[in-house]
Amino acid sequence: MNLRSRGWFGRTGKDGLIYRSWMKNQGLPNDLFDGRPVIGICNTWSELTPCNAHFRELAESVKHGIYEAGGFPVEFPVMSLGETLIKPTAMLYRNLVSMDVEESIRANPVDGVVLLCGCDKTTPSLVMGACSVNIPTLVISGGPMLTGKFRGKDIGTSDVWRFSQDVRAGKMSQDDIFDAEAAMCRSRGHCAVMGTASSMACMVESLGLTLPGNAAIPAADSRRKVLAHLSGRRIVDVVKEDVKPSDILTREAFENAIVTNAAVGGSTNFVIHLLAIAGRVGVPLDIEDFDKLSRNIPLIANLQPSGKYFMEDLYYAGGLPAVMKELKTVLHNDCITVNGKTIGQNVENSEIYNEDIIASISSPFNPLAGFVVVKGNLCENGAVLKPSAATPALLQHTGKAVVFETIEDYKARIDLPDLDIDETSIIVLKNVGPIGYPGMPEVGNLGLPKKLLAKGVNDMVRISDGRMSGTGFGTVVLHVSPEAAAGGTLAVVKDGDIITLDVEKRQLRLEVPSEEIALRKQQWTPSHQLVGRGYVQLFQQHVQQAHLGADFDFLRGGSGSEVLRDSH
Ligand code: FES
Repeated sequence: MNLRSRGWFGRTGKDGLIYRSWMKNQGLPNDLFDGRPVIGICNTWSELTPCNAHFRELAESVKHGIYEAGGFPVEFPVMSLGETLIKPTAMLYRNLVSMDVEESIRANPVDGVVLLCGCDKTTPSLVMGACSVNIPTLVISGGPMLTGKFRGKDIGTSDVWRFSQDVRAGKMSQDDIFDAEAAMCRSRGHCAVMGTASSMACMVESLGLTLPGNAAIPAADSRRKVLAHLSGRRIVDVVKEDVKPSDILTREAFENAIVTNAAVGGSTNFVIHLLAIAGRVGVPLDIEDFDKLSRNIPLIANLQPSGKYFMEDLYYAGGLPAVMKELKTVLHNDCITVNGKTIGQNVENSEIYNEDIIASISSPFNPLAGFVVVKGNLCENGAVLKPSAATPALLQHTGKAVVFETIEDYKARIDLPDLDIDETSIIVLKNVGPIGYPGMPEVGNLGLPKKLLAKGVNDMVRISDGRMSGTGFGTVVLHVSPEAAAGGTLAVVKDGDIITLDVEKRQLRLEVPSEEIALRKQQWTPSHQLVGRGYVQLFQQHVQQAHLGADFDFLRGGSGSEVLRDSH
């Protein structure tokens, strides 16, 4: 084996002494430096990322496995993104974390890396960073929380939206909310629905970057630790076999991930993160691929927010391997995975144990799945809609725009009694895109006006250049590209303009003459705030539009694992 760690620990003379000696202050015996694979455990543990707060324990299980297989584990921290606490939005920092991960791996004497991922952005950021280094990599997800239990009902993160609408409609008190929030998050782990974290866990499993079964084992189930232990054992062999992310992440592997995500009703955020990962490994992937590849894939996992159940239920019903076995006629079964077997081999012995949770492909829960990518004069580079989370009657809809220039403008005016809006209106929100906010927050599934909620209206067409939480639902057009702050047509939509959404034809049109749109664009001046220093300035200058994955232009591709200079 030609291990890169030998460039540090295998040296004689002053440099070798320095590399080993300081490590030995941790109580490490000399034979750990004898040429065995050094495995980095990239840990996103943080008490400010509650979904990943159990990761130090998980890392211990990984270490047991690495030691057993004859490796040398070294755990290191990277910036951790807790979706619920980080302001202004965790997405602003996804690319920063990917840089932290990339540089931490390359700069240090590691031959392989285990990525501990959980809360939404912690998965794509770590995978993006590792792909740009391209050393043997294995991913472990932290696992979903146990299903929430509240007053006789099963609840999960999607209920946040229902609860908040119930409070706005006067059906729930603040004391009810205190009880509900404690019941909802009652165990370690990430969100228990098919939100972004679960979608990311399914993504890495269907890409072949994890051991089989990774996506659904609950965080609190002892088998999650077993998976971590076995992953620790396996990564040592992955290093010996020299299997790199670029060997696993082929175009076919990305297609498998898109098909699988559609079948489980995964998050719209999947689109933006998978595009960014593909950009790092140089696999051609286009936003329209998500529509084309998922168009005939039905929803076969009955999970919230598109269905009824939770990730814990999915695990007991057979987990993602059972879903992927059911999809075998539409997957590339010969894609290799990190355990050395193919996707087809990994799932061949899986079974569906509960057909109310995993359906057959011939008798699905919903023929609509995946994403629709609409284009038109309102989004020349595309926008995304999740039909399984939408109201079918609104998928063909023409209505009058009610425009909000910023999220603050929306908050200030949405509940005004005299706001000129009814259930046929289309709510348009600008300046929540990658550059405009900045960081593209999850605000796209805007709450409806109080006066319409009181009338029993529970969905309307909403359009923005922002994202939506993977736990959200509604007839929501997201990721409009180009965004308003980049001078897209969205920037010049006015109150009262007529907009047509036609999902059948994959169109989103502003029914305003092109000459009038051109005139408005000439008169338009950007209104978003430009930050004059630091990381946010870098972000606004280099972030790409949503249809390209919102990665930085200078981060596409990779720099490999070679260190630039080698002196002490
Ligand atoms: Fe962390 Fe949902 S908030 S996964």
